[in-house]
Amino acid sequence: MTALPAARTFQIAAIPADGVGVEVVAAGRAVLDALAADSGGAFAFDWTEFPWGCGYYEKTGRMMDDDGLEVLKNFDAIYFGAVGWPTVPDHISLWGLRLKICQNFDQWANIRPVHFHPGVVSPLRKADDTELDWIVVRENSEGEYAGLGGRNFASRGPGNEVAVQSALFTESGCERIMRFAFDLARTRSRKKVSSVTKSNAQQYGMVLWDEVFARVAADYPDVATESVLVDAMSAKFVLRPEDLSVVVASNLNADILSDLGSALAGSLGLAASANLNPERRFPSMFEPVHGSAPDIAGQGLANPIGAIGSAALMLEHFGLADEAARVRHAIDATTASGVLTADVGGSAKTDEVVTAIIEALAASKP
Ligand code: NAI
Ligand code: MG
Repeated sequence: MTALPAARTFQIAAIPADGVGVEVVAAGRAVLDALAADSGGAFAFDWTEFPWGCGYYEKTGRMMDDDGLEVLKNFDAIYFGAVGWPTVPDHISLWGLRLKICQNFDQWANIRPVHFHPGVVSPLRKADDTELDWIVVRENSEGEYAGLGGRNFASRGPGNEVAVQSALFTESGCERIMRFAFDLARTRSRKKVSSVTKSNAQQYGMVLWDEVFARVAADYPDVATESVLVDAMSAKFVLRPEDLSVVVASNLNADILSDLGSALAGSLGLAASANLNPERRFPSMFEPVHGSAPDIAGQGLANPIGAIGSAALMLEHFGLADEAARVRHAIDATTASGVLTADVGGSAKTDEVVTAIIEALAASKP
C-alpha cells in the first residue's frame, strides 16, 4: 500500500554540527519522524542535513558555505545541534555558524523553558514539594552579543593590548522582546513578567531597558511585573523560583540564567530552546541549550531530552500544539519511568531514551 502524500510537509534544515550535537539531532529527528509516521498523513518532515561545523571548518576554512544563509532561507525551520570543538577557537565557531544564523535571520526572541521532569532529582530541595515551571525569554539580537568593539588599535604592543566590547540596546529591540514576554505571560496560568536588569551599574543600556519595561508594562495591566538586578535574580532562581513565570532578560544575562535554570532542573542536557523570528520573515531555529559536550561526545551518553524538547517547540511553531504536548508528555512519562541518562543519575544510553520516548508516544496515540 502506498501512503498518500502528507497534507503538510515541513522542509527542515538539520545542522547537527559538533560533538553531542550529532547524537541529539539524530534523536530528535527519530522522535519527529515517529510522530509523523503516526499522524495518518496529516504531516511529514522532509529533512536536509548540512555538514557545517568545526570539522567542515578544518577542511574548508569556513564554518558554513558562503551561500549558506541563502540556502537556509527557503526552509520552514532549522533544527540545530551544538557548535564548538577544541580544535577551533570558540568565538570563530560560534560567530561563524550559530550567531551568524541568529543575527542574519533576525531570530530576536530566544525562548528557554525551565521544566522540572518527574523522576529527575533536582539539586533544589524545594522542587520536591513545589511545582516549578518558568520560561526565560532572551533578547537574541543585540545587547552584549551585538559584536561591537575592537582590539589591537593604537598598536600598543604585547602586554598593552586594549579590547573594547560594547553592548547595544535599542528602544525597539527592548520593546519587541518585552511585548513578546508579556504576550507569552498572558497565555500562562501565572500572569507575571520579571525583568532582569543591571541598571545600578550599567547606567546607559540597562536604564533604557528599565524605561522601556515600565512603558510596555503599562499596556498590560493584567500582568504582574517586577524588576530584579541580575545578581539578585540568580539568587532568586535558587531561593524563590516559585515566584517566577516569564523572565525577560538581555542576551548575556539570559544566557547565564537559563543555564542556571536547567542545572536546577537537573542537567544542562534537559533544556530546550527556540530562536524565533516572530514575524516569520526568516526561518526560526530550534536547538538544545547545551553545547557540544566534548567530554562525553561519541559515546552514546548524551541526554537527548533538550533536543527533543526543542523539537516540541518547533511543532508549536508549526501550529501543531497538540503534537507538541504529546511529545512533552512522552518525555515526562519516560523520565518518570526511570529511563534516564547518566547526567541525571541513570544508566540509559541516548538511544534507549529515544526508544522509550517513541514508545510513550505510540501509547498516547489519540
Ligand atoms: P556544554 O554544554 O557542551 O557542556 C557543559 C557540561 O554539560 C559538560 O559536562 C557536558 O558533558 C554536559 N552536557 C552538555 N550537554 C549534555 C547532554 N546533552 N547530555 C549530558 N550532559 C551534557 O558546554 P561547554 O563544555 O562549555 O562547551 C563545549 C563547546 O560547546 C564549546 O566549544 C562551546 O563554545 C560550545 N557551545 C555551543 C553552544 C551552542 O552551539 N548553542 C552553547 C554552549 C556551548
Ligand atoms: Mg549558553
